[in-house]
Amino acid sequence: MVSIAIMGHGVVGSGVAEIITTHKNKLYTSIGEEVYIKRILDLREFPDSPLADRFTKNFEDIINDREIRIVVEVMGGINPAYDFVKRSLKAGKSVVTSNKELVAAKGAELLQIAKDNNANFLFEASVGGGIPIIRPMSQCLVANIVDEIAGILNGTTNFILTKMIDEGMDFDTALKLAQELGYAERNPEADVEGHDACRKICILASLAFGKHVYPEYVHTEGITKITLKDVKYAAAWGGVIKLIGKVKMLENGKMDIMVAPMLIPCKSQLANIDDVFNGIMVRGDCTGDVVFYGKGAGKLPTASAVVADVIDCCKHLKTRKYLFWTDGDSSNVIDYKDSVSSFYIRVKSDDKDAALQSAKELFGNISPIALDEYEGECAFVTEPLKYSDAENYVKALADKGYETLSMLRIGDL
Ligand code: HSE
Repeated sequence: MVSIAIMGHGVVGSGVAEIITTHKNKLYTSIGEEVYIKRILDLREFPDSPLADRFTKNFEDIINDREIRIVVEVMGGINPAYDFVKRSLKAGKSVVTSNKELVAAKGAELLQIAKDNNANFLFEASVGGGIPIIRPMSQCLVANIVDEIAGILNGTTNFILTKMIDEGMDFDTALKLAQELGYAERNPEADVEGHDACRKICILASLAFGKHVYPEYVHTEGITKITLKDVKYAAAWGGVIKLIGKVKMLENGKMDIMVAPMLIPCKSQLANIDDVFNGIMVRGDCTGDVVFYGKGAGKLPTASAVVADVIDCCKHLKTRKYLFWTDGDSSNVIDYKDSVSSFYIRVKSDDKDAALQSAKELFGNISPIALDEYEGECAFVTEPLKYSDAENYVKALADKGYETLSMLRIGDL
C-alpha cells in the first residue's frame, strides 16, 4: 500500500479522490499495490464525503506522517502551496501538482530541491489538462531538437472564442457559461487576459529548452478586445481567431515567446480545436509536427493526469525520474517588439480605397480582406514584419486620419 495526501479538495482535488476511489482496481493492476488516501488538506468542512475521516486543516499532519510518501498539491496559487511543496520535497516525499502558477514561478527551484532529496516532482496536469504533453516531451520526443511549440493552452478562452465564432454569443455570456462548467480559474482574469496560457507556455519552453522562462519575460495579450467584427473579418480571410501561446528557438539561441490572439488559417491543425479542447503542436527536427489534442480543463480530465503522475511516483519511489531544467534569465528571450509576423489590421475610414492606398504606401504589399458588411472601416493583412515596424506604420496611418481599430498577428501554424 502506498499512502498519499491530497492538498486541496476543489474541482481537481475532488476529481483526484474520485478517480483513486472509483478506479481502485485499475490502479492496483498498474502498480501492484493499493493507493491509499490517508489525508486530505482543506480548510472547508466536507461532512458528507465518504472520506470525511481523512480531512485535516493542518499541514503538519501530512509533513510529520512518515507513511505518506506522495503529496498531491491541487490547491492552486503560490501561497501556501509553494511552502508546502518545498517542505514535502525536503522531507523526501514526492510531489505531484496541477498548479501551473507554481511550476511557472518556481519550477527550476522545486526541481532542484526534488533532485537534492531524491524525490520526484511531477506536473503533467499543469499544461493541457487531460492531454499528455509533459511526459511525451520529456520522454518520447527527447531525441528531437525542438524548433517551436505553439498551442491553444487555455480551455476557457477557447470555449469563449468558439461560442463567439459559432453562435455569435457575446463575451460575458460565454465567460459565465465557462465558469459554470468549472473551466475557469478562481479569478477568470487569469484566463481572459492570457496569464494562464502564459504560465503554460513558460513550462513548455522551460522543458523544451532547458532554461526556466519566467512569466514576466513573456509578452502576453488576452482576448478581451476581440470583437464579433474581428471574428467575421477572420472568417472572410479564411481563418479563425485563437489565443495562441508559442515559443520558437531562433538562430541566435534566444526564444521568441508570447501569448496573443492570432488569426489562424482554416487549414492549420490548430484551427479546428474548439470548445474547452486544447491543442499543442510541437515541431521537432526529426519528427516534424506532432499535435496533442484533448480536454484542456475540467475536473476528471485534469484529475486523470494528476493520478497518472501519482502512479508514476508509486513506480519510482526509490529512483528519480529525469525531468529537469535549470534556472534562466531574461537574456534567453527576445523583446516581443523584435518578433516578426504578418498582421491583420482593421482601420476606421469613410474612404476604403484611400485608406488601403495609404496602408500600401506604408506597409508595402498588403492583402485587403473583402468584407463589405461594415460601413466606415476596412481591413487588410500585411507581409511579415517586425512588431515595432508595424506599430510605427499604425501611428503613421493614424496621422493620416485612419485610426486602427484592431491589430492581430497572423499565426504561421
Ligand atoms: N482555467 C484553465 C483553462 C484550467 O481554462 O484552461 C486548466 O488549466
